[in-house]
Amino acid sequence: MSATLFTGIGELATMDPAHGPGVGLVEHAALIADHEAVLWTGPSSAAPEADHRIDLGGRAVVPGFVDSHSHVVFAGDRAREFEARMSGEHYDGGGIATTMAATRAATDHALADQGSRLIREMRGQGTTTVEIKSGYGLTVEDEARLLRAAATLTPETTFLGAHVVPPEYRDDRAGYIDLVVGPMLDACAPYARWVDVFCEPGAASAFDEDESRTVLEAGARAGLGLRVHAGQLGPGPGVALGVELGAASVDHCTYLTDADVDLLAGAARDGGPVATLLPGVEFSTRSPYPDARRLRAAGVTVALASDCNPGSCFTSSMPFCIALAVREMGMSPAEALWSATVGGARALRREDVGHLRIGARPDLCVLDAPSYRHLAYRPGVPIASTLAW
Ligand code: NIG
Ligand code: FE
Repeated sequence: MSATLFTGIGELATMDPAHGPGVGLVEHAALIADHEAVLWTGPSSAAPEADHRIDLGGRAVVPGFVDSHSHVVFAGDRAREFEARMSGEHYDGGGIATTMAATRAATDHALADQGSRLIREMRGQGTTTVEIKSGYGLTVEDEARLLRAAATLTPETTFLGAHVVPPEYRDDRAGYIDLVVGPMLDACAPYARWVDVFCEPGAASAFDEDESRTVLEAGARAGLGLRVHAGQLGPGPGVALGVELGAASVDHCTYLTDADVDLLAGAARDGGPVATLLPGVEFSTRSPYPDARRLRAAGVTVALASDCNPGSCFTSSMPFCIALAVREMGMSPAEALWSATVGGARALRREDVGHLRIGARPDLCVLDAPSYRHLAYRPGVPIASTLAW
């Protein structure tokens, strides 16, 4: 396979500690890759020859972002719900039923089309790996078709039949859990890598600790890895449950108790869950931002993801999330970039993405800027894009 030499890289963030602490920066850098893997990185002056050469004119290059939490296969629009929230309404997940109704009514083609439109939007902003959840069908057939559509877009697919209890099961929560861990899981597991649950006892139609445990344990028996929506609307049992059951990631963590942080820190030494922070949600629901510095200081691995969905946060932009993490969550630009790349890869238990060490997938994000710091320094400016060659 022919190799390409990228020269004129003003600043290359390899995320390789061998190149330096933080983001493993090489200045005045070059990189050689074929379409399978990164083959060489180092200073331009030491670069070997390759079959092709592309000059990046002093731009910075970082690994493609790993967006480890999204809900991009759905139908419908909730802009009015957002508008109401900005004038004082609270987010409680109730709008999920609105998207569910539109999703059930949509054709397979419309769902796949919406998903691929949003994936294109993500790629256009530097994201090269994305996780996609079901959770807006909430019947056996509708959840399965969401996952079939998601599986055409990414290998990182997540069964979220336990998003909320749908209206037709309002008076029979136990019956809905039986459906989720029985026929729905059977129909969905072939298309899913992960199982997730909205563990939020305070929200009427989300799931309490026992229900969440039932769903996660059934998913694990079906061979799926575990993820948890935890502590989004208030402190709850989701983080502890994720730690106990060996989840790859606990997501949101808007509200964390000291005990949650201690549990995450204790488990971190044995490869326990990554804490995936979703600052676009706090932005779009006017919620308090979690303190990333507190988690990092405790030794917890922190990931950043978009949570792109029609309700709590309709951004597809990882650069926007990085800017928020720096402005609002106490992260340095280097820490935020690490969390949006290596952190996301760890949340998906992937070794091949989120960095540009030799052998990594050649997923390059080029910045129309001289430094990765511009990701936070120039909020809202479209400087990041996926490098296709
Ligand atoms: O991650 N919390 C649950 N699920 C999504 C939001 C879903 C929606 O409002 O449509 C989330 O925030
Ligand atoms: Fe989510």
